[in-house]
Amino acid sequence: MENCECNCNETVPMPRIGDKAPSFTAVTTQGEIKFPEQYAGSWVILFSHPADFTPVCTSEFMTFASLEGKFAKANCKLVGLSVDGLFSHIAWLRTIREKIEYRGMKDVEVKFPLIEDITMSVAKKYGMIQPGESSTKAVRAVFFIDPKGIIRAMVYYPLSTGRNFDELYRALIAMQTADAFSCATPADWRPGDPVIVPPPGSCGLAKDRMADRSEGIVCHDWFFCTKAISAETINDKLLKK
Ligand code: BEZ
Repeated sequence: MENCECNCNETVPMPRIGDKAPSFTAVTTQGEIKFPEQYAGSWVILFSHPADFTPVCTSEFMTFASLEGKFAKANCKLVGLSVDGLFSHIAWLRTIREKIEYRGMKDVEVKFPLIEDITMSVAKKYGMIQPGESSTKAVRAVFFIDPKGIIRAMVYYPLSTGRNFDELYRALIAMQTADAFSCATPADWRPGDPVIVPPPGSCGLAKDRMADRSEGIVCHDWFFCTKAISAETINDKLLKK
């Protein structure tokens, strides 16, 4: 007879883009948090790592902690998670601060909350346990959650591959730019590059736009029109002073 105690066949639906971020209360290195409710009004990046005291995760934490101020200026808070316990988290973060020097980073203090999730209850809600990769560790997941608590983007990487934090920041600013300026952003876009108008899925008549040069719109064809927005305009609108 099948052993059902472990819920072996339990399938937890994966969160999807456009879903409300699943709610939970958790113990973290910065005290208890109610997620995502207490982050209302801010963007938040919820990310998981496989295990404390491992090298790729250490390099990622040092990098993310060094960039925390840059994300904060873009109204984005950071929250980490692994299926380790609180005392392991505290000891690991202390080791990072006191002992590790890596790529010019040292004395790195991780000030954002790191969730303890020994029961894996949060990790399972967010599809961070992917048994084909590991059934005992979270994969490297990243959830971008907007100020209304909606999941706007997700990235999943395997255990072996450290994430690119410049890309996470670029994607955050691209989504904020899309919201603030009703546009989309093309491949490899960075602030200062032309944006795409109107955004895909909108009812704008691009054919009419082809004839309209007044807004500085350039059309490569009827379905592909771009418009300049300076990096300064974007920074003024999105970034805290
Ligand atoms: C690491 O962070 O180095 C790591 C963690 C779990 C499995 C493999 C690598």
